[in-house]
Amino acid sequence: MYHKQIERFPDTFLFGASTSSFQVEGGQTSGGRGEALHDRSPKKAGITDFSTASDHYHRWEEDIDLFHELGLKVYRFSMSWTRIMPDGKNVNQEGLAFYDKIVDKLVGYGIEPLVTIYHFEYPSKLVDDFGGWLSPKSIDAYEEFANVLFTHFGDRVKYWLTINEQDHVIKISERLGLSKESEGVEFEGQVQQANYYMCVATAKVIKLAHEIIPNVKIGPAVNPMPAIPASANPLDVIASMTFNELSHYYILDLHCRGKFSPIHWKYMEDRDICPEVKEEELQLMAENTPDFIGINYYLNQTVAHSEKEKIELRGQGVFMEEEAGIYKLVENKEIPQTDWGWNICPEGLSIALMDVYNRYQLPMLITENGLGAYDEVVEGEIHDTYRIDFLANHLKQIKDCLSLGFPIIGYCAWSAIDLVSGREGMDKRYGFIYVNRTNDELRDLNRIKKDSFYWYQNVIQERGYSL
Ligand code: BG6
Repeated sequence: MYHKQIERFPDTFLFGASTSSFQVEGGQTSGGRGEALHDRSPKKAGITDFSTASDHYHRWEEDIDLFHELGLKVYRFSMSWTRIMPDGKNVNQEGLAFYDKIVDKLVGYGIEPLVTIYHFEYPSKLVDDFGGWLSPKSIDAYEEFANVLFTHFGDRVKYWLTINEQDHVIKISERLGLSKESEGVEFEGQVQQANYYMCVATAKVIKLAHEIIPNVKIGPAVNPMPAIPASANPLDVIASMTFNELSHYYILDLHCRGKFSPIHWKYMEDRDICPEVKEEELQLMAENTPDFIGINYYLNQTVAHSEKEKIELRGQGVFMEEEAGIYKLVENKEIPQTDWGWNICPEGLSIALMDVYNRYQLPMLITENGLGAYDEVVEGEIHDTYRIDFLANHLKQIKDCLSLGFPIIGYCAWSAIDLVSGREGMDKRYGFIYVNRTNDELRDLNRIKKDSFYWYQNVIQERGYSL
């Protein structure tokens, strides 16, 4: 489609970048931090060891100086639940003090802090005490944590994200405090119940934020992988629409409408895995909708109809290749992939933004988007042209959507600085700033600005004029 383009992104547009506490901070046992679920999970040797991560806990000052030099207008980060409430109940002043320093330094530089309340880092103690997100008690625990954050930081932090990628919490057993072996028929029901509790918790926390913080903006960060039909066969079109319902709209409909997506409800009914639902909780959701929707976009999927004529209980979490009788994911030769097999499809970002806006009419903020790649240091420099291409192509899609009038308030690339990838370790780098360590060797952890750093600095300065 041809349309006249805006020359530059609006001057209010929040160019930014993101991190999450457990992936970047390290300092696992410092400052009174308590144990989180991922500290307990079995480690893939050298890979998912978050004890030092990028050592941001000790180098936060140098890092924020670099974010300022990069020109960030917004910095998205999460506040570690276990640093602030080590046992999920009592407040640790040292934890609050750590984030005070970060928030004050950002604000001093005129960088808007965007805080994720919960990004995969759950206090183990709450799982031991009552089963974490599998219990309705988790709603109160999460509300209490949010209350501490809003009361303490609400004078300086106006932008908040409730839960990061809920779909990837509930469908990954260890993020719920369950073992891999516990995945099975019963797990299906637990997934749906946890999802529902998290939606109730989100609505309560949105309500609380609106009561406590003047001019607050709060919303969830979801991860749509918008499906494109594998062919012109209408069955593939229906399969791809259904995939979208079961992969992200099933959460967003509860957040933004206080209703279950009909396809999602029927899916649960057929499998006898419906959660326990209270009318007044749905009402609470309908009355406390987000101010904006955070979109984490990395990849899309190509989807075909599944010919199987039966209902299967999957018994396991996310990334299912086939949902019997509903859809199956297929290869798409038109779409290149990263070294980790993730589809690279910038247009998918436009599809997600257009679709989400058309369904909910809420402003959107891209909360994550980036390329995980192996980076090589050559004579002290990192020539990451592949990352520049990836980010430029995605930013062009955003410029296009802005030109069409879609309300997009900002863009946070993943990630501001190299950090430990959730599942793949340090080899899979995303940052504008290189951190000198590998999966197996900590080295000196020195910071090096990559070529993409200077490129993004220019994009921000000229507000995307050359894109
Ligand atoms: C998102 C998460 O799922 O994707 C991040 O919010 C994560 O925490 C990012 O790091 C990239 O995924 P991965 O597996 O490459 O680290």
